Amino acid sequence: MKIDIITVVPDLLNGPFSHSILKRAQEKELLQVNVINLRDYTTYARAQVDDYPFGGGAGMVIMIEPLVNALEQLQQQTTYDDVIFLTPDGNTFNQKMANQLSLKKNLLFICGHYKGIDQRFRDHFVTQEISIGDYVLSGGELAAAVLTDAIGRLIPGVLNDETSALTDSFQDNLLAPPVYTRPENFKGWSVPPVLLSGNHQRIEDWRHEQAVSRTKERRPDLLTD
Ligand code: ADE
Repeated sequence: MKIDIITVVPDLLNGPFSHSILKRAQEKELLQVNVINLRDYTTYARAQVDDYPFGGGAGMVIMIEPLVNALEQLQQQTTYDDVIFLTPDGNTFNQKMANQLSLKKNLLFICGHYKGIDQRFRDHFVTQEISIGDYVLSGGELAAAVLTDAIGRLIPGVLNDETSALTDSFQDNLLAPPVYTRPENFKGWSVPPVLLSGNHQRIEDWRHEQAVSRTKERRPDLLTD
């Protein structure tokens, strides 16, 4: 899978893909992430990519021209399954969307900044608008990193057995059960005995019960979806 990310602050995306699971996914050539600087695609002086909003008001708006230039040049190499604009007024991202997007071949993420991007680009080129939650970030970059991580780890072959996505929270509409590791007893706080029983069926039943009760307590909405 290839994920291209258009941004006006490429440095913000230097770190998140260079470590751990996403780093390994790229080394195994299961995932390719390209960060594209929108300023490389503007024809305006001083690499300008934004301007004042028509009608007045605070904040700047990213212009349609550099966005279309960038998109058209990228499309010469790549056919995108989706052009995704990261925005707080988009559909709220969840595990189901991550699962669906992980099946795609080529994705393009557009990161807004300032007051957003010209609506005409959204109307004519964007195929999905996604928010990572009901709060406003300074730009879409961190949201793009969140999506890339959540999607990238689901690509077949990226996770090994130990990190398998099948037991993640949300994968079956349940939160994950509690986990423990050595030592068995720390300052009198001991591990639930069932986990030391060696009885795989009992352990699995216990984990399922814990997942259900944790979900009922913390996120009852997941059980009715
Ligand atoms: N850009 C700014 N805030 C955002 C959010 N909550 N989700 C996605 N993109 C954003």
